[in-house]
Amino acid sequence: MSPIGWDRKDLLAIADLSPAEIQLVLDTADSFREIAERPIKKVPTLRGRTVVNLFFEPSTRTRSSFEIAEKRLSADSINFSSSSSGLVKGESLVDTARNLEAMAPDMIVIRHADPGVPRMLAERIAAAVINAGDGAHEHPTQALLDAYTIRAAKGRIEGLKVAIVGDIQHSRVVRSNIYLLTKMGASVTVAGPRTMMPAEIGKLGVRVEDNLEDAIRGADVVMMLRIQLERQSRSLFPSEREYFMLFGLTRERLKAAKRGAIILHPGPMNRGIEIASEVADGPYSVILDQVANGVAIRMAVLYLLSGVHREIA
Ligand code: CP
Repeated sequence: MSPIGWDRKDLLAIADLSPAEIQLVLDTADSFREIAERPIKKVPTLRGRTVVNLFFEPSTRTRSSFEIAEKRLSADSINFSSSSSGLVKGESLVDTARNLEAMAPDMIVIRHADPGVPRMLAERIAAAVINAGDGAHEHPTQALLDAYTIRAAKGRIEGLKVAIVGDIQHSRVVRSNIYLLTKMGASVTVAGPRTMMPAEIGKLGVRVEDNLEDAIRGADVVMMLRIQLERQSRSLFPSEREYFMLFGLTRERLKAAKRGAIILHPGPMNRGIEIASEVADGPYSVILDQVANGVAIRMAVLYLLSGVHREIA
């Protein structure tokens, strides 16, 4: 075991991590957070390391956040998207990865529509692999930045009541958050239309509710999720108007939550569908804090996976 308690080659899923490892990532992010406040936002920690960002699905926050984190740590980074790579010429993903590996990168950040692709890569290449979202499976750095944001606002995670509302079926964010929050001692309730609720979700240790008010009653934290239209093969709700009436978070409905409850959303947001602008932009929203904290979390993950801490020790 390394002196600081991190020996993993890859970050593939929150399901793999122990509470101590989650705590370590959050505490390491704390030490990187203040770099964003400096006039010169750069440290030499990963000088000489190369990171490849491979995004096979669209991304605004995760991709730019990883790129900023890499630059702030002085790593050299290279960006590939599916449209600009050999995949459009029929090359397999494993061949693409092996060819990238031949150029000796230290880390690969990958987002892919198919669950399990990051793990498959990690088993075949020597570089550290970071899952930046694989289908509806997991989005580990999102859950870590959510936990960091909750801890920063509430001072703890243990004992909190967290409600997660929306398209539970197709969300990788909800799966990673359920694993993380329950491991760290929070109680989690999920709610959403039955057509978007997996039958087995209760087996993950969460309470399941059919309506928004019951889910958020007494909650310290309310996390709203986007409807993932790109993962739905058929329409799972009658109309956006009806969805908003039943599951949209408004200021009036928020009164059911605990006083001072914070509001999270992983983005991109559909205003007027899952959340009203008055809530998204309101005093209890920490949605932009999530984005800011995402950089510190990704710096922490890159640092821990780089093995630099072993060299310093
Ligand atoms: N939260 C999130 O994954 O956003 P992006 O799709 O913009 O990366």
